[in-house]
Amino acid sequence: MKIKKAVLPVAGLGTRFLPATKAIPKEMLTIVDRPTIQYIVEEVVASGIREIVFITAAGKSAIENHFDYSFELETFLAQKGKLDLLREVRGISRLIDLVSVRQKEPLGLGHAVKASEPVVGNQPFAVLLGDDLVDSDVPCAYQMLKIFDEYEESIVAVQRVPQEETHQYGIVEAVEVAPGLHKVEKLIEKPKRGVTKSNLAIIGRYVLRPEIYSCLSRTLPGIGGEIQLTDALNILCKERTIYAYEFQGKRFDAGDKLGYLKATVEYALAHPEVGSSFKKYLQNLIKQIEG
Ligand code: G1P
Repeated sequence: MKIKKAVLPVAGLGTRFLPATKAIPKEMLTIVDRPTIQYIVEEVVASGIREIVFITAAGKSAIENHFDYSFELETFLAQKGKLDLLREVRGISRLIDLVSVRQKEPLGLGHAVKASEPVVGNQPFAVLLGDDLVDSDVPCAYQMLKIFDEYEESIVAVQRVPQEETHQYGIVEAVEVAPGLHKVEKLIEKPKRGVTKSNLAIIGRYVLRPEIYSCLSRTLPGIGGEIQLTDALNILCKERTIYAYEFQGKRFDAGDKLGYLKATVEYALAHPEVGSSFKKYLQNLIKQIEG
């Protein structure tokens, strides 16, 4: 079963970044020289998937425009002889085949994923959340697709988090069946203190079998009054096996101010054009702060 489609929910309001996100989608906030959503799309493409389904909402058209062909901009760049920029801009629009589906009401991540059903149909698919950036040698989604090739069951990406942070995540209780691979027994969205001993937190990467759609239609509103994907997965895990996979790579929560700043600094340090000057700048800055 080859996975051809990736669903990217981008309908969220971005309240954590107001006022920056009043008129601009949070997914279009820049890390060094590209919007965060482009890093996610590049990870999808590098994992061998070209068909992307954006789950969008009002005010999010800048995301679709970013991945669309821009006649005016390309003509302008060609006329000015700015060929490097032209190549870059063209490359973006050629990365993917794009379908957008509107999530008509903000009823949660599970509700957003359910909206992809008419486009995805009866086939497995990947889900990537725009707030989670993963820097890794092998793209995180690709690592998960390799596991799916072998087991053909749904997979959630997880990492261990400090116990005092578990209430911010979907947490899985699971049994390790191979190094870094766990068979899921239970999933709990944003557990209150003391509800679970597990600290295996779901990071925004999923490979899902199509049976998740039927589970989503049986999922009642959960925490925050929203239809939670984690709750639907908890139904699915009673009917089929789900694996939790501890991926290789460094994850940044770009949906949080501090996480966004950390991502900006680390991606800037690794950037071929500005990396080394930025490193010198930071070294001097640290001397200033410490001196
Ligand atoms: C969502 C999911 C949660 C997951 C998290 C990862 O929560 O509901 O299970 O752990 O993404 O970033 P959100 O951060 O959107 O509240």
